Amino acid sequence: MRLPTLPKPPVPKRFQDKPARPGHAEKPKPLEQVREAGISAADWIDERTSLSGGLRWMMFRKVPKGTNWFYTLGSATMFAFVSQAITGVFLAMYYTPSATEAYESARHITNDVFLGEFVRGMHKWGSTVMVILIFLHMGRTFFFGAYKYPRELNWIIGVVLVILTFLMSLTGYLLPFDQRSYWATIVAANINGTGPLVGPYLSDFLRGGADFGATTLSRFYAIHMMLVPGLIAALIGAHLYLVAKLGTTAPPWLRADVDEKLREEQV
Ligand code: HEM
Repeated sequence: MRLPTLPKPPVPKRFQDKPARPGHAEKPKPLEQVREAGISAADWIDERTSLSGGLRWMMFRKVPKGTNWFYTLGSATMFAFVSQAITGVFLAMYYTPSATEAYESARHITNDVFLGEFVRGMHKWGSTVMVILIFLHMGRTFFFGAYKYPRELNWIIGVVLVILTFLMSLTGYLLPFDQRSYWATIVAANINGTGPLVGPYLSDFLRGGADFGATTLSRFYAIHMMLVPGLIAALIGAHLYLVAKLGTTAPPWLRADVDEKLREEQV
C-alpha cells in the first residue's frame, strides 16, 4: 500500500519563474539559478585559480588491475595523521608546557574538561594506530616491489616519514610529565647519547643542555606540535604528488600481458 504523501511546500514568491517582460531577453529562471549556485561558485573560484585542472589530475587516475584493500593502508595512515592533528589542536587548547603545570593540566583535561578524556584517549591510542598503519603500509609497498624504479624517491620520502613519526611518539610521550614519561624520556635521551659521533650532541640537543628539565619539556613540545607535524604534512604532500604522477604499482602476482605473436617473433 502506498502511503499518502504530504503536499510540497509552496515555492517562495521571489523564486517563482516569471515570464520575460516584452522587449527584454529571457532571464535565467530563479529556481535554476539556485540549483546552479554551487556550480557557479566553483566556477568563480576556478576562473581565478585554475585549480580544477590540478584537482582532476590528482583525483582521476588510472589504477592497475588487481588493486586491492592493501592499497588503502597509505590513506589509512594519512587519516590517522589527520585525526592526530585535529585531536592535538584541542589538547593544545588546555595543555600547559611548563614543568610545574604540565602534569596538572593533563590531569585537568582528563578529569574536568568536557570530552577531555575521550579526546586525550583518541590522541594516545591514535599514535599507536598510526605507527602500526605506517608499518603495514611500508610492508605493502616493500612486498609489492613498489620501492623499485621509478619510485625510489617516494620510498626515501617514506623512510623520512617513518622516522618523523617515531620522533612524534618520542616527543609526545614526555608531555604528560608524569613519573613514567619523565623517566622513560631520560632513558631515551641517554640511549641517544650512546650513538657513535653524533650521539652526545643529539642527547644534549634533546635535553636542551646538560640537564633534563624545564627546557627539555618546552623543546619537546615545540618539536611535537610545530616542527615535526609541519614536516610530516609537507612530506605527505610530496609523497602524494609522486603517487599521482607515477601511479601505483600493480600487485606482483599480475604479469604484464604478452602478445603471443610478438613472443614467437622474438624467439
Ligand atoms: C605519514 C605516512 C605516510 C602516508 C600518509 C602515506 C600515504 C601514501 C598513499 C596515500 C599512497 C598511495 C596508496 C597506497 O599505496 O597506499 C602511498 C604510496 C606509497 N608509499 Fe606511502 N605513506 C606514508 C608513509 C610511507 C612509508 C613509511 C613508506 C616506505 C618507507 C612509503 C612508501 C610508499 C611507496 C613506495 C608508495 C607507492 C606505492 C605504489 O606505487 O604502489 N610510504 N603512500
